[in-house]
Amino acid sequence: MDEKRILEELIRSRRSVKPAQFGPGKVADEVVEAILESARWAPTHGMTQPWRFVVFTGDGIERFTTFREEEYRRKNPGEQFNQLKFDKMRAASEKCSHIILIGMKRQESRKLPEWEEVAAVSSALQNMQLCATAYGVACYWSTGAMSTDPSMLSWLELGPDDLALGMLMLGQRGEEVAAPERHPQENFVRWQRK
Ligand SMILES: Cc1cc2nc3c(=O)[nH]c(=O)nc-3n(C[C@H](O)[C@H](O)[C@H](O)COP(=O)(O)O)c2cc1C
Repeated sequence: MDEKRILEELIRSRRSVKPAQFGPGKVADEVVEAILESARWAPTHGMTQPWRFVVFTGDGIERFTTFREEEYRRKNPGEQFNQLKFDKMRAASEKCSHIILIGMKRQESRKLPEWEEVAAVSSALQNMQLCATAYGVACYWSTGAMSTDPSMLSWLELGPDDLALGMLMLGQRGEEVAAPERHPQENFVRWQRK
């Protein structure tokens, strides 16, 4: 296959694979490092490189899950507490080999709008998801299970103006996941030739 085809195939075959569909076993730390390395090569306006990550694995996953559970309990007292949601949080985490918490650090000068910094982190995440696909690793960018809660900022060593942008959950590839239908180009592209 030529380079263009390899890239097209990689882009099309990247899937959001939920932890419930992960296979058994761990991903090697070296592979996770390679996935994180791909983040460095994402584009950033002004080279602010605003992405920040905390990698949880082994007992780290248990600690992080317990922290999220406690925060969920604290923020959802009484009627608000949803047992199903709570149980899902742990079940998903236990299927993960690694969980990468995603943060965005605002530029000191605040010259760039926040959305550009979020866009840069998203570019890094796309690199990471493609890299994981190339390594045969299943992954899923989740913004649920308390992962965007301001309480996550303490793990990221970030401040109140920064953002927690969810987590990338990683595991071994298990069952195949079908690609959700996409809109055709004519639904979202308009060419203007004159
Ligand atoms: C920023 C972002 C956050 C996401 N958060 C969630 C989530 O919390 N729950 C979920 O089910 N899917 C989440 N997804 C994954 C999408 O559901 C998924 O990308 C979409 O269904 C298309 O499937 P595909 O990625 O396999 O092509 C997220 C995707 C992005 C880009």
